[in-house]
Amino acid sequence: MYNSLKEIKRQIKDSEKIILNDDNILSYGSNRICYFDEANPSQLIKIARHPENWVKDHRQSFSEWYISTSLVSREKDCRISHCQGWVRTNKGPGLVVDRIVDDHGQSVTLRKLLFRRELTVEQAVCLVENIVGNFFTNGIPASDFNIDNFVIEGEHTNKKLIMIDGFSPKKINLKTQLLLKSKTLSNCYTNRKWRRTKSRFTYCAQKVYAGDYRFAAATPLSDISNRSSGI
Ligand SMILES: Nc1ncnc2c1ncn2[C@@H]1O[C@H](COP(=O)(O)OP(=O)(O)O)[C@@H](O)[C@H]1O
Ligand SMILES: [Mg+2]
Repeated sequence: MYNSLKEIKRQIKDSEKIILNDDNILSYGSNRICYFDEANPSQLIKIARHPENWVKDHRQSFSEWYISTSLVSREKDCRISHCQGWVRTNKGPGLVVDRIVDDHGQSVTLRKLLFRRELTVEQAVCLVENIVGNFFTNGIPASDFNIDNFVIEGEHTNKKLIMIDGFSPKKINLKTQLLLKSKTLSNCYTNRKWRRTKSRFTYCAQKVYAGDYRFAAATPLSDISNRSSGI
């Protein structure tokens, strides 16, 4: 864990400074902002919402990077957006990731697909369960199944979703290391996280499909037990 953070800091220090322009913002997440990288259109740079406190906002980025770089082969059909490394930017440290796009070069989330009624709620649940199956094969410990964390890749008729966030535990710690070492543990972890979110995910998908675009996505699982009421 300590070595991973050291490696991240080394990559940031060694990188040439990239200048990001707010016209190039693709999308906002709850902790991070995604910028197009003009020099590398097939990639995005994820920046902390609060650069002055980037370590906190990038916590998920650390573990995403860790899981992505620990995968034995990047060539396998693994339904995550791979992380390429860390860079220094005028907006603070950034995580470079592969940008997932459809056949028109757009990054379309599951939320949009549901809102546009390109997918039914049943199809969405089925596609996510398909990803869970893919994660079982590849030993990916995923934690945050919300409808903003899936983006369609390629032709829409193929219905191939990729998980772009939440395909790792919240932190890099001993548990994360153990999960990566054992597919049995990793599968139990992913299965438990999905089972615990499925009804909330389905409810959110139903609301969006019914026309309420802004309906809040599933609460990250780590927070569920601390909350007395949902939305
Ligand atoms: N690899 C990617 N390819 C395409 N779009 C992405 C990718 N990563 C993020 N996005 C878009 O940016 C949004 C926010 O990014 P995300 O990583 O989910 O941030 P947060 O952790 O703050 O939720 C996503 O909901 C999605 O719309
Ligand atoms: Mg997200």
